Amino acid sequence: MRRLENILVTGGAGFIGSNFIRLLLESAPGFNGRIINFDALTYAGNIASLLDVQAKFGGKRYFFERGNIQDADLVATIFEKYRIDTVVHFAAESHVDRSIVEPDAFVQTNIVGTFTLLEATRRYWARRDGVLFHHISTDEVYGSLGEINTFTETTPYAPRSPYSASKAASDHMVMAFYHTYGLPVTLSNCSNNYGPYQFPEKFIPLMILNLKEGKSLPVYGDGRNVRDWIHVDDHNRAVWQILRQSKIGESYNIGGENEWENIHLIQKLIEIIAKALGADTDELNRLITFVKDRPGHDRRYAINCAKIRRELNWERVIGFEEGLAKTVDWYLGNKEWIDGVRSGVYRQWIEQNYKER
Ligand code: NAD
Ligand code: DAU
Repeated sequence: MRRLENILVTGGAGFIGSNFIRLLLESAPGFNGRIINFDALTYAGNIASLLDVQAKFGGKRYFFERGNIQDADLVATIFEKYRIDTVVHFAAESHVDRSIVEPDAFVQTNIVGTFTLLEATRRYWARRDGVLFHHISTDEVYGSLGEINTFTETTPYAPRSPYSASKAASDHMVMAFYHTYGLPVTLSNCSNNYGPYQFPEKFIPLMILNLKEGKSLPVYGDGRNVRDWIHVDDHNRAVWQILRQSKIGESYNIGGENEWENIHLIQKLIEIIAKALGADTDELNRLITFVKDRPGHDRRYAINCAKIRRELNWERVIGFEEGLAKTVDWYLGNKEWIDGVRSGVYRQWIEQNYKER
């Protein structure tokens, strides 16, 4: 079992990264080390997602450093300052729709940023053993499935959006650093995550909030596209297993084995929300609005988890009914966080409190 003491988490103020930090500090068996959250605080990064962690662990086992992964000098300083032994690289531009409209930022952060971080890591770790760079990636690198089959770790890459192409490029660079320089790396490709603190531009939080507010529910195309949903904590537990137990140079697929057509998932959300708010199901159903399809919209994703189950003994533990109901409750009960990320109040606060160096 690998010993982890000083973990640099990039993108730790985002959806999955903030849940990862909380999970590790609150409940990861055998972890007593420190976490350094390194995040540029883009529109998707919210320090407010970690106020509880800051209050409980801040300055002792949790440290926040604002910065961009493309800033090689700053990254080098952070490595020295905290004697980093593990990098868990979540930082990315993550929304497919944005990548269609503004692909530049995806190339900069996901490709150039990952390369810069790898170079800084390679220099710092030139003569150290027992260190690890774990890269967080997506099932979207494999492209689009038809009605049958699932993605395995040996499925050829076939990305189809600027987002997935930028993630595929970063995956290849990570593996190139392993093969060429011997940098100790691991890689994981996960399916669609859901849970608390997800920015409400993504499907599940967007639909929950629109249902709550009586706004229309924009369904792309025919609504029959399929996604494989996994609770963010199940994803993060898999990452934790990889960090401690994986051989270097390995990649693992992580997924929920839980496929839903978008339109059926909306109907499920309507059922849950109607119950929670005492609202009329027919009225909520009338909010469904079919809109123009996303260009290059991948039809179906589905992950085969056999490798991580077999080699690392990982299993998904959160059932979808339970996880979804709790997620709905969270969005209905956290108005302050939602208003904050939507209104930009936190942005102003961040500008005042965390000046970029
Ligand atoms: P997110 O958009 O919620 O968070 C991204 C975080 O990265 C933000 O805090 C942002 O401020 C930070 N960031 C962006 N650019 C940066 C830069 N240049 N330097 C430093 N920090 C920067 O994303 P997420 O949904 O939490 O996804 C995290 C990772 O997981 C991404 O790599 C994504 O590709 C991958 N992933 C996401 C999903 C999903 O369903 N959300 C599924 C599989 C894989
Ligand atoms: O599969 C993993 C990927 O899942 C991650 O790598 C990405 O970072 C993450 O954003 C997610 O990508 P998707 O494109 O699958 O997620 P999104 O929430 O944008 O959309 C989910 C599905 O819902 C997709 O088929 C598009 C559709 N959709 C989405 C939105 C925002 C709609 O029909 N209407 C919408 O308004």
